[in-house]
Amino acid sequence: MVASAPVPLWEREALHEAAGPTLRPGGFELTDRAAEFIGAVPGWTVLDVGAGLGATVSRLRSRFGVRAFGVEPSAGQLARAHGAAGLIRARGDELPFGQGRFDAVFCECVLSLFDDRAGGLDEFHRVLRPGGFLVLSDLCASGSPAEGGASCADRAAPLADIAGLVRERGFSVELTEDHSRLLRDLAARLAWSGEAGRHGCGCGRNAGYFLMIARKQGVK
Ligand SMILES: C[S@@+](CC[C@H](N)C(=O)[O-])C[C@H]1O[C@@H](n2cnc3c(N)ncnc32)[C@H](O)[C@@H]1O
Repeated sequence: MVASAPVPLWEREALHEAAGPTLRPGGFELTDRAAEFIGAVPGWTVLDVGAGLGATVSRLRSRFGVRAFGVEPSAGQLARAHGAAGLIRARGDELPFGQGRFDAVFCECVLSLFDDRAGGLDEFHRVLRPGGFLVLSDLCASGSPAEGGASCADRAAPLADIAGLVRERGFSVELTEDHSRLLRDLAARLAWSGEAGRHGCGCGRNAGYFLMIARKQGVK
């Protein structure tokens, strides 16, 4: 009999219970910080890549008045989102949008899951207008990602490597902040529910959590 792949942590009820509708460390804290830093205003069009349950799309619409949309490839996540506004089924590394469509792209706790991060960053670059903003928050870790790892923690890369790749793909890095405290808070809540050890929440590999804001440069 072939064993079925384990349900990833972000599709498990335990993460929903520990984190709420934002399936990442920090809830809206870093979303709001980033939206304020980039000066998001009504009239902007913003994309959330790997939108999960659609919480960031709703937040950006209600708090900042922007036209926000999200792409999410998982049918299960979209079903759990219960028809949340602005969500489209698509992968973040094959975006169904023309070039220069967005003022900002958010990608929260998702880039580490891409098999081809450079290709994903190229897609973000393509759909952003010149000078548009890329908001990344994600796990980082010391050392190389674990071979064949499936969890965010296994796949996390060193922050310097991520910043280097972002620059290489045609962005200038405007802000990098350490928010590992938010990862520890979420890990503690998951440990309490018994999930952390089984599914990987970033406790190993000296994992941390970062916010990075980058800007599309004219040329790559
Ligand atoms: C940890 S959850 C974060 C969800 C959401 N960004 C949030 O913070 O609430 C990771 C999400 O990335 C999605 N995902 C995985 N691979 C993806 C890809 N190639 N493109 C876009 N989203 C992807 C998963 O389905 C999942 O919903």
